[in-house]
Amino acid sequence: MKTLALYNLKGGVGKTAAAVNLASLAAEQGLRTLLWDLDPQGSAAWYLGFDSEDIGGMKRLTRGKIPIGDLIQPTRWPRLHLLAGGLSSRRLEQRVDQDDELLERLAAPLAEDYALLVLDCPAGIQPINDEVLRLADVVATPMIPSSLSVHTFGVLVQHLARQHMRKVRLYPFLSMVDRRRRLHRELVETLPREISTLLRTGIPYASIIEQMGPRRALLQDYAPHSPAALQYQALWTELRNRLGC
Ligand SMILES: Nc1ncnc2c1ncn2[C@@H]1O[C@H](COP(=O)(O)OP(=O)(O)OP(=O)(O)O)[C@@H](O)[C@H]1O
Ligand SMILES: [Mg+2]
Repeated sequence: MKTLALYNLKGGVGKTAAAVNLASLAAEQGLRTLLWDLDPQGSAAWYLGFDSEDIGGMKRLTRGKIPIGDLIQPTRWPRLHLLAGGLSSRRLEQRVDQDDELLERLAAPLAEDYALLVLDCPAGIQPINDEVLRLADVVATPMIPSSLSVHTFGVLVQHLARQHMRKVRLYPFLSMVDRRRRLHRELVETLPREISTLLRTGIPYASIIEQMGPRRALLQDYAPHSPAALQYQALWTELRNRLGC
C-alpha cells in the first residue's frame, strides 16, 4: 500500500478538493483506495455524501476497542472506501500527542486490503500532521500562487528541517490558479525555478470545482472532461509516478 497525503499548514487551499478527486481517479483506474478524512471538519466525507452522524468512532478505535475495519465504509464509487472520524478525530489528535507512532500502527492492517491510502489532513502544524509527514510516501501540498503562500511553504520546509524530517517527499503544486491575475501569472512563471519539486500540473481557480459543494459530488461525476478535471487527471498521473503504484 502506498500513502499519499494532501497537506499544507495553510487552510482553505484546496487540500480536500484534491484529496477526493485524486482518490476517485485512483479508484477509477483500478486501485483499491481508502480515503482517510483526518480533519475534524469532515469535509472529504461530506463531499462523498456522508453526514456528520454517519461518521465517528475514533475514540473507540484509539482505545483499541474496535478494529479499524469497523469504521470503514463503502462509497458509491467502486473501489473507493472512506474512513472518517468527524469531530471524534480530535480524540485521535490528542492520542497522537502522547504516542507518535499511533497512526502508523492503526494504518498497518490497511495494507492487506488497499493499494492506496489517501490522507486528507487538517491545516496546521500539529503532532498528527508530523506523524502524517513521516508516514506518507508522498506529501502533495496545494499552494495558491501568492507571496504569502510562498512564505508559508518556506516555513513548512524550515519546520521539516528542524524536526529532522528532510527525507519527507514533499511535492507542492499550484492550486486555485487564476490566470486573470498578474501575480498568479508571474508566480506560475517563476516558481518552478525556485522550487525544484514543484509539480508541473496546476489546478485552475474554477467555478466547476466550487460546484462540488452544492452538488456534493466529485468532478468525475458531473464534468469528467472539463479542463479542471483534466488537470486533476494530469496531477494524479504525476503523483502516481512518484508513488510508484
Ligand atoms: N480550484 C478551485 N477553484 C475554485 N474553488 C475551489 C478550488 N479548490 C477548492 N475550492 C473551494 O475552496 C474552498 C476550500 O477548498 P478545500 O476545502 O478543498 O480547501 P482545504 O485546503 O481542504 O481547506 P481546509 O484547510 O479548511 O481543510 C471550498 O469551498 C472549495 O469548494
Ligand atoms: Mg480540507
